Amino acid sequence: MSIDIVEILKEPKMTKVCAPMVRYSKLQFRTLVRQYDCDICFTPMILADSFIQSEKARDNEFSTNTGDKPLIVQFAAKNVYDFLNATELVAPYCNGVDINCGCPQRWALKEGYGADLLKKPDLVKDLIYQVRNRIPHPFTVSAKIRLFKDIHKTIDFCRILEKAGASFLTVHARTPEMRCEPIDLNNLKLVRDSVKLPLIANGDVKSLESAENLYKESNCDAVMSARGILTNPALFSGYSVTPLDCIQNWLDITSTIPTQFICFHHHLVFMLEKILPKKNRLFFNSLQNKAAVLEFLKDTYGIKPNNNSKSFDLIKCIFNTSHKKYNKDIAKDDDDLSMNFLGNIFTE
Ligand SMILES: Cc1cc2nc3c(=O)[nH]c(=O)nc-3n(C[C@H](O)[C@H](O)[C@H](O)COP(=O)(O)O)c2cc1C
Repeated sequence: MSIDIVEILKEPKMTKVCAPMVRYSKLQFRTLVRQYDCDICFTPMILADSFIQSEKARDNEFSTNTGDKPLIVQFAAKNVYDFLNATELVAPYCNGVDINCGCPQRWALKEGYGADLLKKPDLVKDLIYQVRNRIPHPFTVSAKIRLFKDIHKTIDFCRILEKAGASFLTVHARTPEMRCEPIDLNNLKLVRDSVKLPLIANGDVKSLESAENLYKESNCDAVMSARGILTNPALFSGYSVTPLDCIQNWLDITSTIPTQFICFHHHLVFMLEKILPKKNRLFFNSLQNKAAVLEFLKDTYGIKPNNNSKSFDLIKCIFNTSHKKYNKDIAKDDDDLSMNFLGNIFTE
């Protein structure tokens, strides 16, 4: 795979990106949004240490097929050793890796993942630097961050990552403490003006129009959508709500790629949120098996899976874990940081 995501981001047009979403931005959903003008997809966040340790985790967390590109695999990691080894394993099957520096959930902060990494610029610098030095271009290494309360800290953080060799950054223009309040466009613009790296702007893209506004106002190179594209996978094609052919495509994709019922159903729940009247929605959301869902869709919209639909053959991923290429020595800087971290606990 020699797709160059940086070149795509540098094209003088708005690049449209599907966000990493735990449980949701899996192969089936990526296949769907790629049919509606989505240029780049992220996997859900995958725990790097489980990925290197457990075959079951690898099988559960990652699958791909020949059409699934450009693809960025996002990891949660808190040391260089895990990030590098996980990257090594997955690199033959994707176009880049990303480190999650934005997840604000309590479990992630407690475990030292996600937004907790915003407090550890030296570690994130090392994660980026080590991957950049070991996996050749055009493979990308990037970080997805949230804003710091102090914009100077955000700018410093981004400049450190730029210097370490990051290919691009994604900025969710909220601080880890912010929930549903509007994004901080002014601070996003300040970040934009402070680094030369391609930037993906993220936050509140709910329609093609809002994507275009964010692209123009932020002056970033690309826009990323999470909740918006979940509710309407066709939004980058300009649809204001999920079109019926998108539901048809979902049925076709999920009848070819093995999909657990909960994933199959949840996505339909999101997609129908804006188009089903409330009473039908409550009924639909309570359905417990695929046959009942298919019957509902047939009765309500006359839609059923198309038996002659295109097949989406999975790539058989072979992960060579017989020797972990990088040993713990590589994480020397990180160990030092962990010591600091423990030190902080005791001095608090
Ligand atoms: C269901 C869900 C799962 C998410 N999972 C991830 C994830 O795995 N990694 C990540 O960096 N962000 C994750 N996010 C955050 C989104 O990628 C995005 O930054 C955030 O939702 C703001 O974008 P939006 O306003 O378009 O939703 C998730 C968000 C949602 C709604």
